[in-house]
Amino acid sequence: MTSSGTAVISPAPVMSPVPDPSAPPQTRASGRTVPRILIIANQKGGVGKTTTAINLATALAAIGRRVLVIDLDPQGNASTGLGIPASGRARGTYDLMIGEASISETIVRTAVPGLDVVPSTVDLAGAELELIDMERREYRLRDALQAAMPAYDYILVDCPPSLNLLTLNGLVAAQAVLVPLQCEFFALEGLTHLLKTIERVRHKLNPTLDLQGVVLTMADARNNLTNMVAADVRQFLGEKVYQTVIPRNVRVSEAPSHGKPVLLYDFRCAGSQAYIRLAREVLVREREEERVA
Ligand SMILES: Nc1ncnc2c1ncn2[C@@H]1O[C@H](COP(=O)(O)OP(=O)(O)OP(=O)(O)O)[C@@H](O)[C@H]1O
Ligand SMILES: [Mg+2]
Repeated sequence: MTSSGTAVISPAPVMSPVPDPSAPPQTRASGRTVPRILIIANQKGGVGKTTTAINLATALAAIGRRVLVIDLDPQGNASTGLGIPASGRARGTYDLMIGEASISETIVRTAVPGLDVVPSTVDLAGAELELIDMERREYRLRDALQAAMPAYDYILVDCPPSLNLLTLNGLVAAQAVLVPLQCEFFALEGLTHLLKTIERVRHKLNPTLDLQGVVLTMADARNNLTNMVAADVRQFLGEKVYQTVIPRNVRVSEAPSHGKPVLLYDFRCAGSQAYIRLAREVLVREREEERVA
């Protein structure tokens, strides 16, 4: 950001060459040798997973991080919201998961410099059935991502609203789960169920899986229910809940129909500014975790 508050984001050609995954690792700003892989998950629909994946990714790219979004949802909303039309998605997560394409064959550049996406295609809806009989069916994404590791600082996985085999692949590939939570009735019940799933995955498939944090989304500070649920969630999870709360903001909901992250669509709106604060918190939290480790 410049001192005048203007975003340092300029459009880039959408289909420019993707990074060479076999290139030697570059020094990362964080000093880590592997990217941070976060899965954005909540089995509840419409809580802001995709919006968070798109805009957190954009905010991280805007401060110079190299970011890859994996669209693991057959709805393909992350791909559309990042400006990749269905016609621009020759290969995607389906081909990656069933082993018909390598990651470098599926990566597409977005208009945000430093931000790439592996789009989802309609075939992904059938992938679950196909995966059931495949070898290492829970590890397909983890295995496929290995070749892209040197090229990125962050890999964000956007999930469908279900705890199915696709989401399970995301949980196995990730280091940590970021949970967008809408402040509404029953939010805590859904969260408890998700936390139990994370615990089960940790025991059986991915021992280092961590809860990165919970971000409250679509909040309306004038609404009592929002405030009550937010207080309950903070009491339940303490510091795991980000200080940043994403407000309900019409500019956020308009941006996807323009194929743009809200940070490009309206940088100054309350939603964009909240996602920038969230990105800062994600970076700070990660540095703290590295100091402890
Ligand atoms: N902060 C916000 N303010 C206003 N509208 C929002 C906000 N965040 C998300 N939305 C809108 O709410 C709807 C659901 O958001 P989103 O698609 O991100 O949720 P999701 O959890 O990914 O949904 P699904 O479970 O279907 O994948 C979208 O229309 C989106 O534009
Ligand atoms: Mg979504």
